[in-house]
Amino acid sequence: MESRYNQLTGTDVLTYHWLIPPGTGVSVGELEVVSDERSGIRYFTRVTGIAHDPETGGVQVTGLPIGCIDQERVFRKPRTIPLLHSPVRPLQSTEIAVLRGFMGEIEVGTVTSGNQRMVDLPVGIPSSVLNQHLGIFATTGMGKSNLMKVFCASAIVSRKVGILLTDPHGEYATGQPGNPDSRGLVHHPLAKDGLRVYTIRSKDVAGEYWMKTLRIGYKDLAIADLGLIFDLSPAQYEVVNLLLPFSTDEIIDFFINDDVESLPSHLRTTAYIGNHQEIAQRVRSAPPDALRLVQRQMRTLLDLTSKFVHPAESSLPEILEDLDNNRVVIIDIPGMSDAAELFILSAISRAIFKKRQRRFIEHGTAGSGGSVLISIEEAQRVLSQHSEKTGIFREIAMEGRKFGVGIGAITQQPKNIDSRVLAQMNTLFVMGLADRQDREIIASSAKHDLRVLDTEIQTLDRGDAVISTVGIPFPVSCRIHYFEDYLDSLWENSSG
Ligand SMILES: Nc1ncnc2c1ncn2[C@@H]1O[C@H](COP(=O)(O)OP(=O)(O)OP(=O)(O)O)[C@@H](O)[C@H]1O
Ligand SMILES: [Mg+2]
Repeated sequence: MESRYNQLTGTDVLTYHWLIPPGTGVSVGELEVVSDERSGIRYFTRVTGIAHDPETGGVQVTGLPIGCIDQERVFRKPRTIPLLHSPVRPLQSTEIAVLRGFMGEIEVGTVTSGNQRMVDLPVGIPSSVLNQHLGIFATTGMGKSNLMKVFCASAIVSRKVGILLTDPHGEYATGQPGNPDSRGLVHHPLAKDGLRVYTIRSKDVAGEYWMKTLRIGYKDLAIADLGLIFDLSPAQYEVVNLLLPFSTDEIIDFFINDDVESLPSHLRTTAYIGNHQEIAQRVRSAPPDALRLVQRQMRTLLDLTSKFVHPAESSLPEILEDLDNNRVVIIDIPGMSDAAELFILSAISRAIFKKRQRRFIEHGTAGSGGSVLISIEEAQRVLSQHSEKTGIFREIAMEGRKFGVGIGAITQQPKNIDSRVLAQMNTLFVMGLADRQDREIIASSAKHDLRVLDTEIQTLDRGDAVISTVGIPFPVSCRIHYFEDYLDSLWENSSG
């Protein structure tokens, strides 16, 4: 019986079984190789199940085939099965090298095989897939922000993609507020070249880290974004639609300076004596209550964003230029409200999309530079099933790919993201997710079948992720680098 241990005892194309001696350590997620000595094909497999086998007293292991390499070391989907009794063993260094060949330049962590970190097998996402959107899913505190920081740190090293991050918690640029051990992207050895921070902080703080003052001009804003932030009634939508032909600086000027109460309406015949004849003329027919509400909401938004919204000045041209130069751009707005964050994120995202769309129409390509990834925290706010709340973000999710604009959707509630949007995401980071429905939604929309990995996904610790991306031919279990440690290693490499 002994001789049967560590040999394939049964198989079909989708599952392998083998026995190991009792007391041998094995854990879910471990990578093994089934070596078919007759054909020379080596089959990679990932442990998905472990159970006692009363008949033999051993431990029955179930594995999921993830791919195989032939003698030429070409990696394929396993369409054949290994010979019965083929030996099952750990990966050898040449096999690890084959897997390393799939990894891209945006390093996020190391592959884990069960409980072990494979330090010689870093996980890197190819930057070429970032226009195909990315999702990061985890319950609160499981490591989403840490992952995003590591991702950006690697992007600063490789300079193949521009990344836009809005940061209402003030954690990405200088580290978690109130935590003296936490550091941020300004502490990156290449920050001066690869990072730009636009901030609302005081000149003193900004000056210390070469941050720039954030300005968004009236023209950059869009009246249609009211719908993103407030629940508008049909009558309010009517007002918004009436205003669409006008430029936002005119609309704002009109709402700030004119009292809509005094507007001539179809009931009143008094003449309008303001600077905005055309606007006044156009909104005359609008329901007065709705018009008043829209004016109030516009004024509220301007109040909320008064720290950076400006009648004329704008950082947008510079921000777009930074992204074209494959820099990480942080919009550092600590303490800003949800509404203010969305308003500005939408304005910048629209500008990025339109610029690249125009370039595509004029030149037939999205340009030779890299893609831009727009990171959206709490993405269910703007990518939900309720399409009136999605604005420019849905447009980017559906069409951004051909213009080189991708979305990085970060959320704790993937079930609240529109399934059509989820289906567009070609790179998924699944971290600890307590809710079964959330896991099922993701598993069924991933490019790899993740349902078989449900046990593993359920047991993920903080900082662990299962990564499924079109760039790598099988789902990868990964220990995400701890940002502060990763920074240390970048400093060591830069000085050594
Ligand atoms: N890969 C990791 N290695 C070690 N520690 C980690 C890792 N990822 C996260 N942590 C720790 O967990 C804490 C929470 O992580 P993080 O802030 O990234 O979570 P989050 O998912 O963004 O949470 P929230 O939902 O509150 O935004 C961090 O302060 C950090 O100390
Ligand atoms: Mg976070």
